[in-house]
Amino acid sequence: MTAERLFDLKSISKSFSKGKESIAIFEGLNMVIDKGDFVAIMGPSGSGKTTLLNMLGGVDKPTKGEILYAGKGIEKYSEGQLANWRAAHIGFIFQFYNLMPMLTAAKNVELPLLLKKMSSSQRKKSVAAALELVGLADRAKHKPDELSGGQQQRVAIARAIVSDPDLLLCDEPTGDLDRATATEILETLQLLNKDFGKTIVMVTHDPAAAKYAKRCVHLDKGEFVEKELVA
Ligand SMILES: Nc1ncnc2c1ncn2[C@@H]1O[C@H](COP(=O)(O)OP(=O)(O)OP(=O)(O)O)[C@@H](O)[C@H]1O
Ligand SMILES: [Mg+2]
Repeated sequence: MTAERLFDLKSISKSFSKGKESIAIFEGLNMVIDKGDFVAIMGPSGSGKTTLLNMLGGVDKPTKGEILYAGKGIEKYSEGQLANWRAAHIGFIFQFYNLMPMLTAAKNVELPLLLKKMSSSQRKKSVAAALELVGLADRAKHKPDELSGGQQQRVAIARAIVSDPDLLLCDEPTGDLDRATATEILETLQLLNKDFGKTIVMVTHDPAAAKYAKRCVHLDKGEFVEKELVA
């Protein structure tokens, strides 16, 4: 059985220009990601890992090349089309959680659902299910500053999965956590991959975190090198 292709990056180039100067981050980068994959992306600081995640999530566009998602070139979408596509398919998880400090855990998790046509009772049900899945049902009314770092990251995971996206894009999701808490977060990501079929792309500096993925690629000097995951 061949796996279903989710992303096909074809000859992606990306450069940023500052005045007259242009800095090339990648040139002619190719990558495929299948449905159900869990890919760790490693590489030195400044190698373009966050830039790559932003392009996969439709937040940034390549300078050249195609990003096919389920066969369609998302780099051609308008801002409005991209926003709809993102809301339907993508969940983002960041190193510093990016929660709204004035809102409770439940209200933070509800945010992506406000873009959808859903009744408030449907929203409440989805929020409760997402918080339950990350083990935080009893913290729904807490605000971020009343939660530990690991719990805040769990809220962020609940927010990322509440609209049932296909793909989770995680940028250093355990970068600010101690080893034991990082392990819990990585186990949650692995559960979402194995039992809920979420495709995951995770940027990490930590080889121990990368071992939770099914495969690992190194990004260096604009090129990918597939690395063995040594247990
Ligand atoms: N909006 C921008 N304008 C100009 N240059 C940018 C912009 N965003 C990123 N860059 C440059 O692109 C390169 C890659 O940045 P990126 O943030 O993707 O690296 P990274 O691999 O995620 O690094 P880190 O591990 O430190 O997070 C860097 O040299 C950065 O300065
Ligand atoms: Mg980065």
